[in-house]
Amino acid sequence: MRVAMIGTGYVGLVSGACFADFGHVVTCIDKDARKIDALNNGGIPIYEPGLQQLVAKNVEEDRLFFTTDPTDAIRNADAVFIAVGTPTRRGDGHADLSYVHAAAEEIAGLLDGFTVVVTKSTVPVGTGDEVDAIIRRTNPDADFAVVSNPEFLREGAAINDFKRPDRVVVGTDHEEAVKVMRELYRPLYLNETPIIVTQRRTSELIKYAANAFLAAKITFINEIADLCESVGANVQEVSRGIGLDNRIGGKFLHAGPGYGGSCFPKDTLALSRIGHEAGVDLKIVNSVIDVNAARKKRMADKVIDFLGGDVSGKTIALLGLAFKPNTDDMRDAPSIDIVTKLQESGATIRAYDPASMAEAGHIMKDVLFCDGPYHAIENSDAVVIVTEWDQFRALDLDRVKKLLREPNVVDLRNIYEPADMDDRGFKYTSVGRAY
Ligand code: UDX
Repeated sequence: MRVAMIGTGYVGLVSGACFADFGHVVTCIDKDARKIDALNNGGIPIYEPGLQQLVAKNVEEDRLFFTTDPTDAIRNADAVFIAVGTPTRRGDGHADLSYVHAAAEEIAGLLDGFTVVVTKSTVPVGTGDEVDAIIRRTNPDADFAVVSNPEFLREGAAINDFKRPDRVVVGTDHEEAVKVMRELYRPLYLNETPIIVTQRRTSELIKYAANAFLAAKITFINEIADLCESVGANVQEVSRGIGLDNRIGGKFLHAGPGYGGSCFPKDTLALSRIGHEAGVDLKIVNSVIDVNAARKKRMADKVIDFLGGDVSGKTIALLGLAFKPNTDDMRDAPSIDIVTKLQESGATIRAYDPASMAEAGHIMKDVLFCDGPYHAIENSDAVVIVTEWDQFRALDLDRVKKLLREPNVVDLRNIYEPADMDDRGFKYTSVGRAY
């Protein structure tokens, strides 16, 4: 199959590289000439384990191409994917669809022969209909079908998620388009990955419902963690106790400082807007949004309270800034709220993150970015573990204790054991573990 992928952001690049690795011929298209130049010279604009090698291999084997000119790629394509950004529109939580609409117009003029136009970007219910209408209006003779095919990729695990997904969702009732989509995903089909073929609107909603449900699951366990702290229980054991029930499942039950990232915050807001406009008050989704936002803000207070209610003049070391490990993504990261509040309260911040310090440097002011975890900890009054990078899971705790001015540890990801930290002479607190 010949694939044109519009947008070389996170989703476009990972999907393009993986489709090429399946054996298809993929051309990734982006208006940003610098990005395309960099990609053609082996540079990867995002941090994603394994992606550089996957791109290099498929470029080398002549299945993956990068260009700013969509003409030939779209004319020759069996499927054109729209994988452009849908950021939150300023002020109202709506997904901004201007890039999707522009891509649809561009595609329309170039279609040649039957072509499947696939929306991979996360788009509100009904966007497939809009893309359909734009193409039809721009090029009434075009022979095409618009399909919704949402992605469920996690940053840091995106290649594995693409190649070994729990399911593939295809939204269309166009038979020929279903055939093309099945052919594209055939390597997965042979592995018996379920392919759900459904109506386009249902497919669009599946994506939002999945992300909102996961965000709700995390928010639920975070509230239970608060309760555990007050009643003397342990949230990790509660998670295990409920997660072993197959109806609940053990994943996404890690209590922490609140979810962040490029998807959950944006998609829950967008789903809330979709509900509002459809006259359906999505009370659970709205609560999840509010509870999570408040939680991220409250995490700094947890640190301040732990340090006796006053952090002015104190130095605090943050380990981890990205919204989760294995990414350099700082979007909606809890660290942003934590740093802001601690600085407002008079603390000096030292920080180390293995990947996101360059990104963080654009967002955070007056933070001393350090060369490693021990450098950050040196002469600090407390260390706060914000992101559970593997390299923070087995720190040399004797060294940590020697380097700290005071042996204070706030572990917002529960990666150390309270009893063990106590034995080692740390003053330690974590999330939802009263013992
Ligand atoms: C998510 C979805 O998982 C993915 O399917 C979708 O396509 C995009 O959004 P991503 O944002 O990359 O992926 O990260 P994910 O691993 O889902 O984590 C999201 C946030 O939830 C992170 O801030 C993480 O720390 C937090 N989280 C996750 C928890 O606090 N507890 C958990 O148990 C799981």
